[in-house]
Amino acid sequence: MKIKYFDLKKINHKILMTNKKEILKQIFSGQYILPSIVNKFENNFSKFCRSKYCVTVNSGHDALKFALIACGVKRGDNVAVPAQTFISTWFAVSEIGANPICVDIDIRTGLMSNEKLKNLVNSKKINCVIFVHLFGNICNINEIKYFLKKKKILIIEDCAQSHGGFYKNIHSGNLGDVGTFSFYPGKNLGGIGDGGAIVTKNKKIYENIIKLRNYGSKKKYMHETLGFNSRLNHINAIFLKFKLKKLNQDILSRSKQIKKYKKGFSKFQHDIKFMEVLKNIKPSNHIFYIRTKFRNQLVQFLKKSQIETLIHYPIIPPLQKFYKNKFYRQKNFENALKLSKEIVSLPIGDHLNNKDIEYITNQIGFFYKKKKYNFN
Ligand SMILES: Cc1ncc(COP(=O)(O)O)c(C=O)c1O
Repeated sequence: MKIKYFDLKKINHKILMTNKKEILKQIFSGQYILPSIVNKFENNFSKFCRSKYCVTVNSGHDALKFALIACGVKRGDNVAVPAQTFISTWFAVSEIGANPICVDIDIRTGLMSNEKLKNLVNSKKINCVIFVHLFGNICNINEIKYFLKKKKILIIEDCAQSHGGFYKNIHSGNLGDVGTFSFYPGKNLGGIGDGGAIVTKNKKIYENIIKLRNYGSKKKYMHETLGFNSRLNHINAIFLKFKLKKLNQDILSRSKQIKKYKKGFSKFQHDIKFMEVLKNIKPSNHIFYIRTKFRNQLVQFLKKSQIETLIHYPIIPPLQKFYKNKFYRQKNFENALKLSKEIVSLPIGDHLNNKDIEYITNQIGFFYKKKKYNFN
């Protein structure tokens, strides 16, 4: 039995077939840039996120970059970023000439440690923080928000992995000043190409981003500021509008799959650890990883059993070649480094049924029974 980590063809097939007529109509219409369709999706997405304003852009990476620029982050400024995240979080900071300042994670949640962030802010001038709701787990921003606000530090949330994730009844993206989303095909709300969005309740930031995505222009051929071409393609917007309708259902079925995995692994408490979800957090269930000291052997074993897995992410940003000569100190990423060596992401999503999850769980159980060791 072959199990894919993810199967976009299978996942998107039903949405494409059900809405084929509307999608084809737009492709054949001869109009290839249609802001009205994009605006409609923006309205739907901001309702979903319960945010005041929403601007779509061409990628989650552009969303991060524009959020930084619109918040007034400048060349030479210091931006606190978690030691473990997808490289885009760090590159967005570097691209605008600011400095990514590494903050270690809490190894239990996989998220930036608030305690370590506090220590950093007390010892160094920090202009902005990017919280990343990695794996769909949500950062407890409320715990530290007052402290950051008193120091006039801007808060950006990288929500590329947290569509449908909440802190209490607040959707991710609304816990700080600006939230940025990715619609990269593999995301919870993945499109049929690249895409991204920014949400905010701040009108000034919203208006800045409207200009940034369109050559610094609000009115045709009038360019007030330096800007970019970063529009969400309208065919993608139509697809995303349809996919959004089933997002909650998809997150729920992922949550059931995670419960099933956890139940199946209950006999292996000494071998397998899970991502901890704190009180008041409803995760988006984007990635389900297990933590084990025998990660590499397990990955090899699963590969032989034709079960695809992924590692998010094998080399943490401060150890990437680009950042090597910036001399990030190991004490600022010890937990992130340890976690990156121990985690493996297991398949979850609509392409799998209960039998698939059972098969994966049994194979992993078989691996540990064969090994018979203790995990300390
Ligand atoms: C945490 C994180 N931030 C930013 C991005 C960048 O998004 P995109 O690939 O849409 O540019 C991604 C996605 O890959 C991500 O996972």
